[in-house]
Amino acid sequence: MIISVPKEIKNNENRVALTPAGVKELVKRGHEVHVQQTAGEGSGFSDDLYVQAGAIMEPTIEAAYAAGEMIMKVKEPIEPEYGLIKEDQLVFTYFHFASSEPLTNAMINSKSVCLAYETVEKADRSLPLLIPMSEVAGRMSIQEGAKYLEKPLRGRGILLGGVPGVRPAKVLILGGGIVGTNAAKMAAGLGADVTIMDVNLGRLRYLDDIMAANVNTMMSNEYNIREMIQTHDLIVGAVLIPGAKAPKLVTRDMLKDMREGTVLVDVAVDQGGCIETCEPTTHENPTFVIDDVVHYCVANMPGAVPYTSTLALTNATLPYAIELANKGWKKACAGNKELELGLNIIKGEVVYKHVAEAFDLPYTPVDKFLK
Ligand SMILES: NC(=O)c1ccc[n+]([C@@H]2O[C@H](COP(=O)([O-])OP(=O)(O)OC[C@H]3O[C@@H](n4cnc5c(N)ncnc54)[C@H](O)[C@@H]3O)[C@@H](O)[C@H]2O)c1
Repeated sequence: MIISVPKEIKNNENRVALTPAGVKELVKRGHEVHVQQTAGEGSGFSDDLYVQAGAIMEPTIEAAYAAGEMIMKVKEPIEPEYGLIKEDQLVFTYFHFASSEPLTNAMINSKSVCLAYETVEKADRSLPLLIPMSEVAGRMSIQEGAKYLEKPLRGRGILLGGVPGVRPAKVLILGGGIVGTNAAKMAAGLGADVTIMDVNLGRLRYLDDIMAANVNTMMSNEYNIREMIQTHDLIVGAVLIPGAKAPKLVTRDMLKDMREGTVLVDVAVDQGGCIETCEPTTHENPTFVIDDVVHYCVANMPGAVPYTSTLALTNATLPYAIELANKGWKKACAGNKELELGLNIIKGEVVYKHVAEAFDLPYTPVDKFLK
């Protein structure tokens, strides 16, 4: 198969979908890999390293898109890329369709095959291609939150871990999945007073067992959230309902009950956000303030640490990419339920229920295409 890796063009996105090591694995199996020039630069991989691994370098984004039967990307295509995606091309990347109607319509119109990293799902319901980025974003949410709690950055002016004789900051984490667990680990390690909320009691039991003594668990409901936001310094939004928009757990009217300089980090912003006042921001301009509450809502947090993120992501995507390349998408998806669940749009038809529901579009069961 011919695989193409274009350079990411989203603001401050420095990750790349394949490392030179990944190129080598594909080439070794008889595939042809085209990589856009400088695509790996932001992650520390020069064009020379790709050439040594067997890649064919493409001078422009147009040439990179035109070359491949399978396009491997990191972020969802943005407007300038819509027109570059061709009929029947397989696009393997993050899409997050439920949070963007224009993207959904553009991909329907392209008649391409859209296999979304974020909905590839294992039998135990875990999401193997979201996990590595959630690990990065969860850990970063505390690093960023701690920074924006500093007074010059309009935060409360409180040190996460406190010092002897001064209490530490209070951190509230909404959602105890991968992002939430990694955030809790970092916050606890820095000595903060941490509470994780989730609706899944089994998950709370597990977290209670494995977390440090400065991490408490609490059932997530409106009553408890209203109470906790009044006393917490850093609030991390980390909920997920797979493939659907995030529920709004912190509403506009709750801001008035928070203290001045409280910091909200809505990691779930890529699924529409679980904090009502959050709007996606970029690494160039990551925060805004409403009612004296600092909002950090960067939709591609891992993009700021591309070295770690690219390696973490490609460790997880490569085995699936190899399977898709070896067998073609139809055979690979028909024989692997995990990959089948990644199919969202096929040749103009929406085959992922949550996406069809999000925009009131007709839903086609995926079986139609896999027989
Ligand atoms: N901004 C970024 O750069 C970035 C990076 C990675 C992941 N994310 C996003 O972070 C979010 C969390 O991802 P994850 O991998 O941790 O998901 P996950 O599935 O591991 O965890 C989500 C948790 O939310 C819980 N939940 C659902 N409804 C809830 C509610 N009403 N109250 C409290 N908890 C609730 C679930 O029970 C689950 O434990 C997703 O939206 C993901 O797309 C964003």
